[in-house]
Amino acid sequence: MLCKGEGMKDAAFDDFIDRLRSDSDIVRVISDYVPLKKKGKNYWGCCPFHQEKTPSFSVTPDKGFFYCFGCQTGGNVFNFLMKIENIDFLAAVKLLAEKMNIPLPEKEKTAQEREREKEAARLYRVNELARDFFHSCLVKTGYGKAARAYLLSRGISGETVNTFKLGFAPAAWDKLTLALRERGQEEGLLLKAGLAVERSGGDGVYDRFRNRVMFPINDARGRVVGFGGRVLDDGQPKYLNSPETAVFNKRHILYGFDLAYPSIRKQGQAVVVEGYMDAISAHAAGIDNVVASLGTAFTPDQARCIQRHAAEIVFAYDSDAAGQNATLRALTIVRKQGISVRVVSIPGDKDPDEFIRNNGADAFRALLASADALLDYQVKQAFRNIDYSGLEGKVAVVGKVVPALAEADNAVEVDAHIAHIAQTLAIDESAIRSEVHKFLLAAKKDKNVNVGKNITKLALSSQPAAAADQAERTIIRMMCEDNTLIPYIQAQIPLEEIRSAERRGIMKAIFNVYTIGKNIQDTAWAISLSEAANNELSHIMLIDIQCNHDVVNLIEDCIRAVHLANMKVLYEEHRLKADELERMGDSGYLQELAESQRIKHEISKLHYE
Ligand code: UTP
Ligand code: MN
Repeated sequence: MLCKGEGMKDAAFDDFIDRLRSDSDIVRVISDYVPLKKKGKNYWGCCPFHQEKTPSFSVTPDKGFFYCFGCQTGGNVFNFLMKIENIDFLAAVKLLAEKMNIPLPEKEKTAQEREREKEAARLYRVNELARDFFHSCLVKTGYGKAARAYLLSRGISGETVNTFKLGFAPAAWDKLTLALRERGQEEGLLLKAGLAVERSGGDGVYDRFRNRVMFPINDARGRVVGFGGRVLDDGQPKYLNSPETAVFNKRHILYGFDLAYPSIRKQGQAVVVEGYMDAISAHAAGIDNVVASLGTAFTPDQARCIQRHAAEIVFAYDSDAAGQNATLRALTIVRKQGISVRVVSIPGDKDPDEFIRNNGADAFRALLASADALLDYQVKQAFRNIDYSGLEGKVAVVGKVVPALAEADNAVEVDAHIAHIAQTLAIDESAIRSEVHKFLLAAKKDKNVNVGKNITKLALSSQPAAAADQAERTIIRMMCEDNTLIPYIQAQIPLEEIRSAERRGIMKAIFNVYTIGKNIQDTAWAISLSEAANNELSHIMLIDIQCNHDVVNLIEDCIRAVHLANMKVLYEEHRLKADELERMGDSGYLQELAESQRIKHEISKLHYE
């Protein structure tokens, strides 16, 4: 068996992976999932990771990469299997080995690892037994009568009860404990699973969940990891949830994900709601790309879980103040992950469950279709409940929109919003712009790495930036084609000058591989790259490079483009800083101004080279 951590560092294991990758035929592997047609050197098909009618998904057999020009997903054969099968890297290795009939290298596990796995297996098992017990109580026994009536009153059909394996925990102290003991489950395990609680006297245990409708919580692979239990009346707490256990980590779990993920993948979109019932009602109404974050704050782990399958998240949280605040917090999390986000505002003080029940599935679909883009939503929220006729209100609105504007990607949208906000508030556009700049500078001081990029975006025409992006890609591609260029590039371009974290990662990996004397053409080194970097690398491998003319000139042009873009960012930073200091009456601005002038001079020299 394979085991992570250790396995990854093991040289024999690395060799095994190399061999697996180079022996496998990526076209054949992908053809099992996607019909491909050969065109020129590459194969083409409709992307399995987003919805499309015309093929923009390509596979390059000689490079061993796939890449979708539509959704920018790409990678090697392992990345493909990880995405399409919803599995991690090691599982993809295992699957590919199986497909190719190659036995896996034997790997010794430590006693501790074996024990941990056994313990996890025991927990999944006891949870599953508990789920089945609760489910039987609900659908087959007299205990479940009131709960059946309750669910019916909320419009939950028998079919939905079965799909989500809803259950009922009887109103007694020991029904579950007794039933599980009969099935050979020990008290200690019940305690570890959070199904039972120790009596205060220390003698024995009692059932944690009593007289509650039970919602089993599954992990992405459909294993039961915990429960939520709802009271039938107005009792408190409304929902009692399993505590964190060795298999239940709330930060990783999205309720309903195991059922939703085929649809999430197909649609390229996941809808995130707050509650159990919101997710269930949506599924029951046939809208099945819906998962619930279970009332807690949306976490980066949950975002990543979705991001592996979809390019877009739509938040449909409750429309009360708590829900809207949770939305704004979730947006901050998701923005950092670089996934596209939209937000639904549910009319009235309602949640999706109530909305669907009152208005039907089509109305909810229409609401999802009309979801606001991220920035539109943030700007709308900034105006909400504020009287902006007076100065104080205007300042408050600007204070709220500035961070959103500063972090937004699309300069054209930002411009349009600034114009609109200025008009609505009857203030000058430049006032908003200067606040945005101030925010970016302050953020930069906090070592927010994204900011340099944003300053460029706001202050410069996008041309040098786009040229530098292209130049960086060309440089990476050329290094892959011709290893002798690597030390030269390494000497010419400090990694900090590379504009994207992905390309920085790729270049760093190339330099490393070269340093240890391994072969770059063999792209096995790409395995250690992040998912985003892998996507970028696939993109780079597929761009057409006209290098039949002078390679040296091409490389020199690219290096110059990279330097130029960096100098322009530097120039803007110093110039803005100078403005800022001058406005504050700080004489330090002269120094900043001089520095910006010096850089400007360098830039003009580069232009004429
Ligand atoms: P809500 O209070 O919005 O409940 O909490 P809800 O989903 O509308 O529940 P119903 O419709 O009255 O049955 C949203 C989610 O927050 C978590 C649950 O996951 C719930 O679905 N929550 C809420 C708890 O874990 N405990 C609570 O006491 C309340
Ligand atoms: Mn509700």
